[in-house]
Parts: sequence; structure tokens; C-alpha cells
Amino acid sequence: MKPGLPFLAGAVAVTVAGLAWADGAWSPPPTTSAPSPIYGVRIPAGYRDWVLVGPAQEAAPLDELRAVVGNRQALDAYRAGKLPFPDGAVLVKLAWKHTPSPDFAPASIPGAATTVQVMVKDSKRYASTGGWGFGRFIDGKPVDQAQHQTCFACHAARVKDRDYVFTRYAP
Ligand code: HEC
Repeated sequence: MKPGLPFLAGAVAVTVAGLAWADGAWSPPPTTSAPSPIYGVRIPAGYRDWVLVGPAQEAAPLDELRAVVGNRQALDAYRAGKLPFPDGAVLVKLAWKHTPSPDFAPASIPGAATTVQVMVKDSKRYASTGGWGFGRFIDGKPVDQAQHQTCFACHAARVKDRDYVFTRYAP
């Protein structure tokens, strides 16, 4: 039963959090998750309270709004302009479909959440992938191994010289 345990723990956490917010319109994101294939990365607890690194917009066909947030270690490195990121740095990318605001048509606002993506720096554990472990989650659940095989290659091909991180600290 061992492989089922993380799922069970996740379900319990979500249920408990869901009860706490049952009377509100906003339902909280999962506070943790099962581990991603290959890397064993989980959704970090509390990431929704982290600091904004920068937003991004992705054109069609995905048509998404994104926001990258980081924990303290990541933000300290960004603000000091220091690369590589230190062990313990974590970056999370939130993504949503975008939709016109019902209140003011020219404004575009987040629609349905699509993915949560995570990069965790551990230079020893993830030595073969630039020191980064990757996780992509849909509805709080990790996607399959095939998708996780694509992460490092794309980041390495384009932003190796910035420690494999695309997002710059927004002015
Ligand atoms: C085809 C290229 C490509 C692939 C494959 C890819 N990414 Fe990214 N990733 C990007 C780009 C471009 C950004 C910059 C933000 C944006 O435009 O959404 C990004 C940003 C990120 C960020 C925020 C930190 C940063 O580098 O800016 C995380 C976390 C992330 N990706 C995780 C993943 C994970 C996990 C996977 C695999 C499941 C993955 N990525 C696969 C292109 C890619």
C-alpha cells in the first residue's frame, strides 16, 4: 500500500482545507501533492503566499496567463542578482486560461487554472538536470512521466546561462 499513501495524505489535506473554506467563493489550492515522476517533487505547502517574481502571457493555442512566485531563497538570489540559485530555492509557476473581465471588457483576467509547475534546487540530488527537480501538476496531481521527460531539455536549450530559469525578476 506504500505508493497509495501520498495520495491519501493529499486527499485528507484537501478535504480539511476545503471544509475551512466551505462558506467562501474561493477554494484553496492543494497544500501538497503526490510526488512527480522522475524527480519526486511535490507542490510546496504555502506557495500561494510567496513573492511574485514576474507574470507572463502565452499566446494561442494555450492562451494562458502565468505568474511565477518564489520562496525566500529564490527571491534573495534574484534580488542579489546571484546565480546559480542556492540549494533550497523553489520556483512555482501558476497558469490560467484568460478571459475578458465581466466587469470591464478590455481587461483580461484569469479563467480556469490549468497547471502548477514547480522547480526545486538541490544540486546533489538533481545533479544530472542542472541541479533542478521538476514537477507539473493538474488539479493537484502530478502528470505522467513522459511530460516530465521534456522539462529539462527545453529549459537547458534556452536558458542554461541563467541557471535554467526563464523568468526574470519583473521591474
Ligand atoms: C518547450 C519549452 C518548455 C518545456 C518543455 C517546459 N518549460 Fe518550463 N518554462 C518555459 C518557459 C518559456 C518559461 C517562462 C515562463 C512562461 O513563459 O510561461 C518556463 C517557466 C517555468 C517555471 C518558472 C521558472 C522559470 O524557469 O521561469 C517552472 C517552475 C517551470 N517552467 C517548470 C517546468 C516543468 C515542471 C516542466 C516539465 C513538466 C517544464 N517547465 C517544461 C518553457 C518550457
